Amino acid sequence: SRRVAILVSGGGSNMVALVKSMTGDHPARPVLVLANSADAGGLVRARELGVEADHVDHRPFKGDRPAFEDALHARLLQAEPDILCLAGFMRVLTEGFVSRWQGRMLNIHPSLLPKYRGLHTHARALEAGETEHGCTVHEVTPELDEGPILGQARVPVLPGDTPDLLAARVLEQEHRLYPAVLRRFAAGDRSRIDLAA
Ligand code: GAR
Repeated sequence: SRRVAILVSGGGSNMVALVKSMTGDHPARPVLVLANSADAGGLVRARELGVEADHVDHRPFKGDRPAFEDALHARLLQAEPDILCLAGFMRVLTEGFVSRWQGRMLNIHPSLLPKYRGLHTHARALEAGETEHGCTVHEVTPELDEGPILGQARVPVLPGDTPDLLAARVLEQEHRLYPAVLRRFAAGDRSRIDLAA
């Protein structure tokens, strides 16, 4: 079965959804959860789920991204992953790192790409008066939030929505979409998945 490493920066709810999905006849299994900070909530949750968890703190590298990425890469190699899943990993990765994992690295982004790359996607979608919003799983390429789209899930924007309400509605779909895409991807199937709430 394929070995999956999951990179997180925060609470790791997508990581939890991915780990929980990898049971039974699943073509992959989780081998490492790696954070860029010791206090990422996802580390505790991963250990509770019985998955090895570790961190490579980006701060001592003081903005030297390639040096941080070399350390991240070295730690990842110990786990010998076949697939990397970014799950709320909030460090920008340079071309040097991305090219080492190209074709084997997925990301989830909280918008219907190509709309709203980058941060504050929910506030920006509301501000633009969108009637529909959602999330995207894509292969990671060197350009931020670009790369072949493997799946999207749509949600309606509702009257009275705030960025937090919308984020919660989207997150629920993230937890459906990412496991569905990973299962296919791990089986070598890159056909696209489209979900609606
Ligand atoms: C998720 O909404 C994910 O799509 C987003 O961060 C959140 C992480 O939540 N990712 C990005 O914004 C990537 N630029 P989680 O830690 O509970 O999975």
